[in-house]
Amino acid sequence: MELMETIKGRRSIRRYQSKEVPEEVLNKVLEAFQWAPSWNNSQCWELIIIKDAAIKEALQATMGKGNPAKKSITEAPLLIAICAKLKYSGYDKGEAVTQIGDWAMYDLGLANQNLCLMAHSLGLGTVVVAFFDHNRVNEILEVPSGYKALTIIPLGYPAADVKAPDRRKIGDFTHENKFRGTTD
Ligand SMILES: Cc1cc2nc3c(=O)[nH]c(=O)nc-3n(C[C@H](O)[C@H](O)[C@H](O)COP(=O)(O)O)c2cc1C
Repeated sequence: MELMETIKGRRSIRRYQSKEVPEEVLNKVLEAFQWAPSWNNSQCWELIIIKDAAIKEALQATMGKGNPAKKSITEAPLLIAICAKLKYSGYDKGEAVTQIGDWAMYDLGLANQNLCLMAHSLGLGTVVVAFFDHNRVNEILEVPSGYKALTIIPLGYPAADVKAPDRRKIGDFTHENKFRGTTD
């Protein structure tokens, strides 16, 4: 698949077939995640692959009210919970080296997208899920302190095609030389 086709064709998939994801396909998706850039190559991530039905149900109960991805949590054959090691990326000897502080969100965002694009190119669907009770998810998955489960990504074969939501026009979010005006 050509890169632009992959980028534009990836959709958030919220309904899945029950078909299992073969181990070698999962490994390719994880390999795409592995090769993401990160602050000073910090790779501040830990991934939990979840297939257990009881754990999926417990995670589903943490979803925010009206979260459209709720069904996908139990329907997808597997979930990938993406955890960040906190205060590590963008830090040197325990001190933040930029005014931004923790770069974990950024690093994990890039790696999430690698994963989602690779999954799509292999015919799989994903959706980044982040609207849930993060403390409860940490408890369910026994994530140690100093780490946070940031997103849960269902992975599986899509049950149906999804229409692309609109995007802002390039001219509406690009500025020449200096930040001028907003689109609000
Ligand atoms: C950080 C982040 C959190 C998201 N959380 C959720 C979520 O909790 N539930 C959900 O259904 N979709 C979630 N999404 C998916 C977005 O709604 C989706 O990417 C957006 O509507 C654009 O649609 P597309 O991915 O099909 O292009 C999330 C996406 C991102 C990047």
